[in-house]
Amino acid sequence: MLSRMNEHATTVKHDDGLPQADRAVEHMQGHWVLARLGKRVLRPGGERLTRRMLAHAPLAGRKVVEFAPGLGRTTRLIMQAGPSGYTGVDRDGRVAAIIGPMVAPIGGTCFQADAAATGLPDGEADVVVGEAMLTMQSERGKRAVIAEARRILKPGGLYAIHEMGLTPDDLPDSLKDAVRRNLATAIRVNARPLTDGEWRALLESEGFDVVWSGVEPMALLGVRRNLADEGVAGVLRIVRNLLTHPDLRGRVLAMRRVFAKYGDMLDGVAFVARCRD
Ligand SMILES: C[S@@+](CC[C@H](N)C(=O)[O-])C[C@H]1O[C@@H](n2cnc3c(N)ncnc32)[C@H](O)[C@@H]1O
Repeated sequence: MLSRMNEHATTVKHDDGLPQADRAVEHMQGHWVLARLGKRVLRPGGERLTRRMLAHAPLAGRKVVEFAPGLGRTTRLIMQAGPSGYTGVDRDGRVAAIIGPMVAPIGGTCFQADAAATGLPDGEADVVVGEAMLTMQSERGKRAVIAEARRILKPGGLYAIHEMGLTPDDLPDSLKDAVRRNLATAIRVNARPLTDGEWRALLESEGFDVVWSGVEPMALLGVRRNLADEGVAGVLRIVRNLLTHPDLRGRVLAMRRVFAKYGDMLDGVAFVARCRD
């Protein structure tokens, strides 16, 4: 009874239009906790790694599908590149509502679906982009999403991903398990990051050839990273929200402890892979 009351007490009080507004803060997925504080770039290698990745995936005049656009920071970059079409697919209906107006000027859409089963036609996309979403799928789920990207891409089309990595490649299984377990507890998401070699092998076994890869530190909560990604005003807003929302602050501190403890073993990795003919 008491725990139910507490749960009620820590639920976000006003519907802020963000996903999981109806969920108690204690049970909210980590990325939506950060979004509630004002964070907009929700991927491990930051916007710098996104930009490096997109530089290897030409978007101008291309039909682009984005898996899991979240709050749309990459959507904005994709739109600036001048694609001929944009389709976003996110399993959260609120994300679809946020992204829709951003892509309307080119007749783009965003709808709610599992990226593993989009219902999009075979072989029509030039580029599929997906960030910080494969990490949170099971091994089977990862394969299903990658297979779906392959199905909707034209032969020779590009799949660009940006995910959480484990390093080094020969990290003992016991440590991999400890990282995954502690991450899952802190971010309330079954996060299963992979080593560089494992990501690469996964893409290759699902019919892709890796044509580029890049790495950046996993600095989601780092001050310098946040200044780069969110700007000075954004960081000030996040700090103000941290000071005034103890429930959200508690979640962030728990996440920070895990990121600090396992920081040497985590990074942000990105790959651009070409769909084999
Ligand atoms: C950590 S956020 C990343 C958002 C954005 N890509 C970014 O990097 O800032 C994860 C996003 O993945 C979406 N997502 C997770 N699993 C998904 C799935 N199977 N199909 C579609 N979207 C999914 C969530 O709804 C959320 O928007």
